[in-house]
Amino acid sequence: MKIHVINGPNLNMVGKRDQSIYGSLSYAEIVDRIKEWSDSRKIQVEFFQSNHEGEIIDYIQNLNDGDGIVINPGAYAHYSYAIHDALETFKGPKVEVHLSNIFKREEFRSKSVISRVCDGVISGLGWYGYILGIEYIMGMYR
Ligand code: DQA
Repeated sequence: MKIHVINGPNLNMVGKRDQSIYGSLSYAEIVDRIKEWSDSRKIQVEFFQSNHEGEIIDYIQNLNDGDGIVINPGAYAHYSYAIHDALETFKGPKVEVHLSNIFKREEFRSKSVISRVCDGVISGLGWYGYILGIEYIMGMYR
């Protein structure tokens, strides 16, 4: 089983961003925790992070393998119809993750334009949200 964990803009900066919102772990530390968890369960996880909308779209379009996507689109969640359309073409299970609870924050964050092409949304559970997303995808193939 291979699952793609995709992170959008500014997620490479967590640890330096407001820790009361995004937690204290760096992006590399989050990746390590996910790897540790998935390695022990023999799940292959491929990581991709980009600050550029087109690169994220290219990555999704070029996925010719993979059993599922866990995506934290960062601020693109709130306005990228292009990422919405790219995700729509990927037929496997898709989970949208946000480190913070986007419903508890500024009004503009409470709307995600990509949720309707995802199976579900996990928001506000910090880095553990990625693990829950992966677990859900694993469950879909059991
Ligand atoms: C985020 C929430 C977004 O609103 C924000 O723009 C981010 C991170 C989160 O993980 O909580 O960059 O996706």
